[in-house]
Amino acid sequence: MEIVIRRSVEDIATVVSDAIESLVTKNPAPVLGLATGSSPLPVYKELIRRHKENGLSFADARAFLLDEYVGMAVGHPESYREVIRRELTGQIDIADDAVKSPDGNADDVLAAAIEYDKSIAEAGGVDLQILGIGTDGHIAFNEPGSSLASRTRMKTLTEQTREDNARFFDSIDEVPVHVLTQGLGTILEAKHLVLVAAGAGKAAAVAAMVEGPVSAFCPGSVLQLHPHVTVVIDEAAAADLKLNDYYRRSYDLKPAWQAL
Ligand code: GLP
Repeated sequence: MEIVIRRSVEDIATVVSDAIESLVTKNPAPVLGLATGSSPLPVYKELIRRHKENGLSFADARAFLLDEYVGMAVGHPESYREVIRRELTGQIDIADDAVKSPDGNADDVLAAAIEYDKSIAEAGGVDLQILGIGTDGHIAFNEPGSSLASRTRMKTLTEQTREDNARFFDSIDEVPVHVLTQGLGTILEAKHLVLVAAGAGKAAAVAAMVEGPVSAFCPGSVLQLHPHVTVVIDEAAAADLKLNDYYRRSYDLKPAWQAL
């Protein structure tokens, strides 16, 4: 796990956008793993800027979303499919039908979940997966207690997560209870995992994920089992890390030839 501590969310966005730019310019058919939530938004803003100002093209890319609410009407502005269209994919040149999300409206959501894992595999797997982390340590919608080997499936949100996400709705009552989410085992199959987090509210979750035991109680800690993880965080989110100085020193001393 490489821990990159940056001063601002703009610096975080630069580091992550550089990695994505490198992938989409080198790989003829890149597969991106996209996350919703507020954390990746500065990254998406920077990618849109690079697309509009520098011609960075996503024309040959495909993308898979991590998760989706169950039972939310197609086109609902807070469905994750719409959120990602609004915040990123509708503003770059990726084909709209090259962006996939779990079908939370399927008659048989369990079958849809299995299909989703299959479609990721058929695309050759995700090359670079962007992740955020919830205050309770969840990644995608894998709440505490999620099997570390889990596949895409339906989950029930904790009340904490529903409260955290209520800011996107008129009231907490509108936040769905059920979701479809890539499993922890599914996420671990992506080739490169890039987790972004900022702010003091994420410090405890980041410390548990990076330095705590690997445990279903902190789903993000499963990243410790992946061979290529980059955690890009600001100083506030890094505040509870015991080896804070070591991570900074390692990044400062990183050889120029070594990419993220
Ligand atoms: C939601 C999403 C996660 C995201 C988390 C944190 O639960 N399903 O993918 O990481 O929120 O969101 P934020 O970045 O807004 O704190």
